[in-house]
Amino acid sequence: MADPDVSPEVFSVRPELTARLMAETRLDEKILTELVHRFYARVRKDSVLGPVFEARITDWAPHLERMVAFWSSVALMTGRYHGAPMPAHIGLPVGWAEFERWLALFRETAFETCAPKGAALVIERAERIARSLHMAIEDARPRAVPSLQ
Ligand code: HEM
Repeated sequence: MADPDVSPEVFSVRPELTARLMAETRLDEKILTELVHRFYARVRKDSVLGPVFEARITDWAPHLERMVAFWSSVALMTGRYHGAPMPAHIGLPVGWAEFERWLALFRETAFETCAPKGAALVIERAERIARSLHMAIEDARPRAVPSLQ
């Protein structure tokens, strides 16, 4: 049985690194769960982003669980997420303006949910990932092929 004194909720493939990140950022699974749940509650109410998510996600519980695992992997290096974010976004009807909106809601939620260092870490990661998802969406967009003649 797990020792209840040693972070009982945290599974990590890199326990020492995770423990260091948790100590430095004051992030843990509980805070990340709160961050994800609050953030998507805001997203769902947003007039621009809400409909984009509602058109794709019918069962929110598994999405939220997946997103907590994702942030646990990204922020605490636990290795809990095993998905592929890129293909999930290809073809979504969004451009950089929608990513800016996503990031604005995420920053707001991070600042009110996490300690300053934790907020800074998740925001910096979100900004990087948003840029690469946006690039992947743009690259996959069908466009007119220029004539070679
Ligand atoms: C305008 C911005 C965004 C929109 C509209 C959007 C929309 C979506 C939707 C609809 C899904 C569910 C796909 C499905 O299950 O069919 C999804 C999944 C996901 N999103 Fe986003 N997203 C956005 C930005 C981001 C950003 C910035 C991140 C990371 C920082 C992110 C991370 C993820 C991850 C990890 C998944 C789960 C992929 C999987 O394992 O299936 N998304 N997103």
